[in-house]
Amino acid sequence: MNTRTAEEIASVLHRAVQAAVWAPSVHNTQPWSFVIDGDEIALRADSARKLRLGDATGRELSISCGAALMNVRLALRVLGCETQVRVLPDPDRPALLATVRPGAPLAPDEHIRLLHAEIERRRTHRAGFTALPVPDRLVETLAAQAATEGARLTPIRSEAAVRVIAGLTCAAQDVQSQDRLFTLEMIRWAQPPGSTHREGVPAQGYPRESEPTQPDFAQRDYAHGRPWGSDADQSVSTSPGTVTVLTTPGDAPEDWIAAGQALQRVLLHASAYDVSAAFHTQALEMFHLREFMRQELLSGEYPQMVMRLGFAVDESEGVRRPVTEVLEERRPH
Ligand SMILES: Cc1cc2nc3c(=O)[nH]c(=O)nc-3n(C[C@H](O)[C@H](O)[C@H](O)COP(=O)(O)O)c2cc1C
Repeated sequence: MNTRTAEEIASVLHRAVQAAVWAPSVHNTQPWSFVIDGDEIALRADSARKLRLGDATGRELSISCGAALMNVRLALRVLGCETQVRVLPDPDRPALLATVRPGAPLAPDEHIRLLHAEIERRRTHRAGFTALPVPDRLVETLAAQAATEGARLTPIRSEAAVRVIAGLTCAAQDVQSQDRLFTLEMIRWAQPPGSTHREGVPAQGYPRESEPTQPDFAQRDYAHGRPWGSDADQSVSTSPGTVTVLTTPGDAPEDWIAAGQALQRVLLHASAYDVSAAFHTQALEMFHLREFMRQELLSGEYPQMVMRLGFAVDESEGVRRPVTEVLEERRPH
């Protein structure tokens, strides 16, 4: 990078933050902020956006920020630099999740370009998938993508195990929907039709009515009894698609950030092959259900995301806060 001028470096870093904000985040809370200082981007957790009941430990917040970190890395690589990343660089500042500096010039390879091109195109899916199965080879490649970031993506092939995960999801959804405070926390992030808010889950992000998948993987109830949502996509069936779980060997903040980076790599690679993901993280927000899943189905590894993968058309518009709201640029004195 030392051949670039300070303005060129500032522009590269700015573009990396523009990519970062397109990461997925729980309820689209976008729980991050960035500081550009000289040739460094600092990624910070915005704890005011943490779900106090659903995510008391900040696990989902860290996964969301890990996904944003992956976008920063990909953007810098596409702009022709190596990246120097430090995760949780300062034990005295736990909210400082990572710093990234552009390194030596390095031309991006085709795969980096492929992933980067999906950053703004990828969308969360919230219904069944078409009957077309995700090819085994592609699932294997997605698992390899997760592995490069230190996480494991396991496709759940046994029908019994799929039923168990679906059952845990429905149980968690039922318990959470009975809890008034939990529900209030969730609907605070559900936006009404026509909303101009640039955060939270927009009403066009889920179908108004959709047939349950077989077995049923309960959806979050963002509409909460109101006639919100988009017209159902007629091409989808009741197929849940390929059920997968993303796990890590440990369960510390660095594992969560790694899981987020792995998640984003998986989602972007999948998106490049027109495969969408539906998330069901309700059971992972409940200690006993998460422990049950870990011990009974995942050989003791920690589940970080439950995802169904499949083919569907998701054309809803993505909603994000503008970069100016999340970025502080410190000018050299
Ligand atoms: C840690 C995490 C947990 C999530 N859990 C769910 C979930 O349980 N149900 C759901 O519909 N979407 C879930 N999502 C997807 C977010 O709602 C989605 O990323 C956000 O609304 C932004 O929309 P987009 O992904 O289409 O850009 C989750 C995302 C993350 C990163």
